[in-house]
Amino acid sequence: MIKEHVDIDDIIERHPGKPESLIFLLQDIQAAYNYISPEAMTLVCDHIGVPLTQAYAVATFYQSFSLEPKGEHEIRVCLGTACHLKGAPRIVSELERRLGIKPGETTKDLKYSLDTVNCLGACALAPVSVVDNEYQPNTTTPKLVRLLDKMVSE
Ligand code: FES
Repeated sequence: MIKEHVDIDDIIERHPGKPESLIFLLQDIQAAYNYISPEAMTLVCDHIGVPLTQAYAVATFYQSFSLEPKGEHEIRVCLGTACHLKGAPRIVSELERRLGIKPGETTKDLKYSLDTVNCLGACALAPVSVVDNEYQPNTTTPKLVRLLDKMVSE
């Protein structure tokens, strides 16, 4: 998803300069930029008086925070047992080939991020993927490719 440009200082100033603001600041920065850069983290720590190591410990604990830039579109393919048995590894391989990245990576143009997950809790619909937070039940490679092509033309 394309985020509107938001000034980091505006985000920081919206929150009181105290340690309790940490999570809220990280959430807002994640929402605005899709990741938390080292520069943003330093500004946050200076503002609330929390050591960088502590802020990074919090950011790495919660899966919803990313410390690496993420793509405009996030694709997650489930590799849990049910999905694995229904051909999910082939889907991942095809995406790797088409996008030129491995799971955990983002394309250089910051358009796509690819990830794998262990179970999305929808095993009856295997294989399952999630594209931009939308579940894709009974995922097939052609279906995902059509979706990617649609994103490119948008
Ligand atoms: S194993 Fe894929 S949704 Fe459960």
